[in-house]
Amino acid sequence: MTGSGSMARTEQPGPVVHAPAAPGRLPLLGHALPLWRQPIAFLESLREHGDIVRLDIGTWPVHVLTSPEHVHAVLVQRAQQFGRGRIFERLRPMFGNGIVTTDGDFHRKQRRMVQPAFHRNHITEYAEVMGRAAEAMCASWKAGEEVSMLTETRRYALSSVAEMTFSGGLSGQAIAEVHRSLPVVLEGMLLRAVMPKSLDLLPIPPNRRFDAAAARLRGVIDEVIAQYGVEQAGQEDRHDLLSLLLSSVDADTGATMSAEQVRDEVIAILFAGTETSATTLAWIFHELGQHPEVERRVQEEVDAVVGAGPVRPADLPRLTYTNNVFQEALRLHSPLLFTRRALAPLTLGGVSIPAGAELAYSPYALHRDPALFRDPATFDPDRWEEEGEEQRRAHRFIPFGAGQHKCIGDSFAVWEILTAVATVASRWTLVPAPGVTVRELPAGIPQPSELPMIPVSRH
Ligand code: HEM
Repeated sequence: MTGSGSMARTEQPGPVVHAPAAPGRLPLLGHALPLWRQPIAFLESLREHGDIVRLDIGTWPVHVLTSPEHVHAVLVQRAQQFGRGRIFERLRPMFGNGIVTTDGDFHRKQRRMVQPAFHRNHITEYAEVMGRAAEAMCASWKAGEEVSMLTETRRYALSSVAEMTFSGGLSGQAIAEVHRSLPVVLEGMLLRAVMPKSLDLLPIPPNRRFDAAAARLRGVIDEVIAQYGVEQAGQEDRHDLLSLLLSSVDADTGATMSAEQVRDEVIAILFAGTETSATTLAWIFHELGQHPEVERRVQEEVDAVVGAGPVRPADLPRLTYTNNVFQEALRLHSPLLFTRRALAPLTLGGVSIPAGAELAYSPYALHRDPALFRDPATFDPDRWEEEGEEQRRAHRFIPFGAGQHKCIGDSFAVWEILTAVATVASRWTLVPAPGVTVRELPAGIPQPSELPMIPVSRH
């Protein structure tokens, strides 16, 4: 096997081999100990052992792809040979059959029906709502008074996605319920995804909290859908995702979605679109706090492009440096792991993969590979202006995945995040609270352990 420092092998004639196992495997436990103790560092270390490395989570074997070429082959070129895999299947009992957890023809059909809600025209409409939410966030701060940027970014991201989904159609009580239950579900989710299925039914507090929150979330969304259904019969169109899903028609069969399927899609989007954006945004504020010269350049650009008024959607494409800051934060703080499952036996890069085997890719580890990014641990937004051999290496940057399961909310996230960063930069400098060391905690996208910051007024 070659390390990711050299070009990965494409299909070559020659003997088919098994993927090498990562070192440190124990009977029954497999690699559970290093994964439990230091999951992020352990995943990153795998690239030293090959382009495809076998990992055992307990008795569950996973083939981790560490080269961009193999990841691209699995996500795009040979996507038809793979299903969703274990992480997604374990989430199905809670999230049902929305586009996040399904695959094959069903996924394709559903994705076609959900896609129009993410059309550019709609996103510009949502951008105005995002602008108002960002203004409200900024207006709630007092100069010199510490704020938790973890709480702030989560609230902002949830408001943005909830507004796009329900366009103000959620009652105060329902909004409070989504704010209460969604974080509990998101936090428990990662544990659920890797835990053996047999443990789900144990009446231990994490399971009880998780199940209760998931049930409340489903209940509240069912109520809103029932309400919308009644209103739709009266032809009221609210221009939001929910109205769109309720009226969406399958191009082949002419059928509409059942209320249950609509609920599953809404939950899928709330779940996939909240914590991801919130965490990325939190890291951006953290990085700006650690790099005052970068923050100053962002502020100068925002002053020049946006001026004194609120951020307008048309301003965003002109914020090129701010966009580089966003890309750089996405690179350093990417999703940790996604799975796929081989539907039939195959070979990949000369390695034999049996039917049913799990494969995984880690945007996080890929984006910190020194063969793909110069000084990968350094936060350097200017790297996105460089042109060199590394920049020409295809498929090295995949924060939103690729292929048929590529993030459906990628443009939404860009607008949402740039709007928040520009709005904050036009009013405040956020200074890290003294004496706090921000650590990285394992999560879907590794999260800051805490993020207290002090707003200093710019005007
Ligand atoms: C910075 C923010 C975000 C990041 C880094 C991110 C990342 C990703 C990635 C890597 C995938 C592909 C997973 C795979 O390969 O299986 C994905 C899928 C998805 N994302 Fe995002 N995402 C973000 C924001 C959003 C937002 C704002 C929404 C919705 C409002 C969203 C909705 C979805 C959905 C529904 C899928 C599943 C698509 C499918 O399987 O067809 N994401 N996201």
